[in-house]
Amino acid sequence: MSPASTKSLEFEEILHKHRTIEDLKKNPYIAAQKVFKDFDLDTYLIRAVDNLTLEIAEHEYIAIVGASGAGKTTLLHLLAGLDRSTKGNLFLSYVNINPMAEETLTIFRIFTVGVIFQNYNLISSLTALENIMFPMQLSGMEPLECKSRAEKLLAMIKLEERAGHLPFQLSAGEQQRIAIARALANDPPIILADEPTANLDQKNATFIGELFEKFRQEGKTIILATHDEKLIKFAHRVLVMEDGQIIKDERIEDVAFEEFPEKEKPENDSPPEK
Ligand SMILES: Nc1ncnc2c1ncn2[C@@H]1O[C@H](COP(=O)(O)OP(=O)(O)OP(=O)(O)O)[C@@H](O)[C@H]1O
Ligand SMILES: [Mg+2]
Repeated sequence: MSPASTKSLEFEEILHKHRTIEDLKKNPYIAAQKVFKDFDLDTYLIRAVDNLTLEIAEHEYIAIVGASGAGKTTLLHLLAGLDRSTKGNLFLSYVNINPMAEETLTIFRIFTVGVIFQNYNLISSLTALENIMFPMQLSGMEPLECKSRAEKLLAMIKLEERAGHLPFQLSAGEQQRIAIARALANDPPIILADEPTANLDQKNATFIGELFEKFRQEGKTIILATHDEKLIKFAHRVLVMEDGQIIKDERIEDVAFEEFPEKEKPENDSPPEK
């Protein structure tokens, strides 16, 4: 096994400080509590998320639907800790992320959540392989291990032959698959995806649907904004958003918790060794 990187030690320290045994017992896995998100545009204010409360359990697969402008992307970004709420608490992996300093939150996010953006957000100057390696480099993984894991992820999305291509040389479906592989780089337990099959042809959309089904079987917690029936059909719950609020929360299926290992618990209360 490779030695723990400085970043993974920092992550362990963050968990020790921000996620005590008490937090694991009392905090929700993922939650928004009376959350507001306002965008102040000088002349007027846009309330993109409006007094929204939501709890998500480990291993749940959640589909969020709603008209354009309903607040789906804004909510996903808040839940991922990519944006701060105007008011209200957000929990991610049993941690209240509101009081976290920016740098701490960044390290916490690297190991906790993979985000697939509505517009892919690939780095245009990096090749497909380098884009996938990027989050692993941020996590302090050894270069050889980064490369070998990125190659495995490229194989999973069936794009080995595109390893050296830049994003502009890839089709929309290929870019989306690279973005999914990048989100999985550090094997996060939580995946957030924003319309991951929008603008894709049937073949690519079906392939991505199958990937999400696999993530669900592996026990990952999945939250996605989508209108695609191929993705919605695997959901445990479907949330309908309108004007920054959840107007319907429909349970389709219960999570088979017995299929997954017990939630992670710290063995003792001492900080990790350096
Ligand atoms: N950075 C921003 N600055 C100002 N207004 C914003 C910003 N981001 C989002 N909004 C506004 O917040 C509201 C919710 O936007 P959001 O992108 O979350 O909607 P959405 O449900 O994801 O829509 P779509 O289905 O089109 O992706 C919209 O009215 C939007 O114009
Ligand atoms: Mg959106």
